[in-house]
Amino acid sequence: MNQRDDVNKRKADHIQICLNDNVNGRGITTGFEHYSFIHQALPEVDFTEIKVDISFLEKKVATPFLISSMTGGTEKAMTINHNLAIAAQEKGWSFGVGSGRAAVEDPKRAYTFQVRKYAPSIPIIANVGAVQLNYGFGIDECKKIVDLVEADALVLHLNSLQELIQPEGNTNFRGLFQKIEELCRSFHLPIGVKEVGWGINGQLAKRLFESGISFVDVAGAGGTNWSQVEKHRSTNPLKRAVADAISGLGIPTAECLVDIKQNEGTGTLIASGGLGNGVEAAKAIALGADLAGFGRSILAEAVTSERALIERFTQIEYELKAAMFSIGAASINELKNTSSIKRVGSSF
Ligand SMILES: Cc1cc2nc3c(=O)[nH]c(=O)nc-3n(C[C@H](O)[C@H](O)[C@H](O)COP(=O)(O)O)c2cc1C
Repeated sequence: MNQRDDVNKRKADHIQICLNDNVNGRGITTGFEHYSFIHQALPEVDFTEIKVDISFLEKKVATPFLISSMTGGTEKAMTINHNLAIAAQEKGWSFGVGSGRAAVEDPKRAYTFQVRKYAPSIPIIANVGAVQLNYGFGIDECKKIVDLVEADALVLHLNSLQELIQPEGNTNFRGLFQKIEELCRSFHLPIGVKEVGWGINGQLAKRLFESGISFVDVAGAGGTNWSQVEKHRSTNPLKRAVADAISGLGIPTAECLVDIKQNEGTGTLIASGGLGNGVEAAKAIALGADLAGFGRSILAEAVTSERALIERFTQIEYELKAAMFSIGAASINELKNTSSIKRVGSSF
């Protein structure tokens, strides 16, 4: 099997495993269950007037929701991206497509990322692994990716523990902060950084913002666990055992947000990692996030149809508004600045 086939087989495996297998971490949750809203019985808000629109990447969008970067490269990925793009455009979600590495290595795959025609006005974010900056990717490859996606920004994903367990993983993460900083300085579009399910701590987020990164997506622990996903693909007994041992590592999504707020990092903050509904998104925003991202929890609808996705997106928006109604927040800005969220129960 050559390298291209490898990448495409990996993408197809990821979708199948995420749809069919248990890929949760062990003994770790998002932490949102430790936060609760203080209900306001007299909200002094008309539910029908609650607004959830925001600005992101210099565009107005109807909701603070983001489709977390997922896929591209294969025929099935094309169907998924097509459905996601149509639903995102209709419901006003921002859209992160999956890693564009496959399209750079095999231009015949580019069409699977070309969703701008279905989503002309929403923010679309192209994606590549930051570690690829140590494996032959530079500014030209990054430009190719954003151009073919017609993206508004590029997000670099940090996935050290996934690469470690992945049979064909790239594990040299040395010197990457400086390379990210250099890319930020010379790139023509905003650059963001995301994890893939182990979280970003407050100090790193602050350093990233200071280095010119325009948004940080924490992609914290408690949702999809990528060492478990890669374990399902691996036949190596050592890697499979290590995957189990590390499956409780990572920073819960809620804890990332609290830590970043305490470290006073300034820049757009995206909460993702294990989000399943609009109330969790509301908690994430009340804890300091500007947007809330959904990954595996919308994958089944994405595979099914654009209609199934639109229904799910409608429900998530309704849930967000219900939580806002409960505390009397009439806008995303009011939700972000609310004092009506409190910590409950035991520590993480
Ligand atoms: C099928 C699938 C493919 C993914 N591919 C990518 C990818 O190409 N690039 C990336 O940055 N993250 C990728 N992710 C990770 C998600 O963007 C997200 O950070 C992670 O799954 C945690 O969020 P969740 O718990 O909501 O799924 C993928 C996730 C899924 C479910």
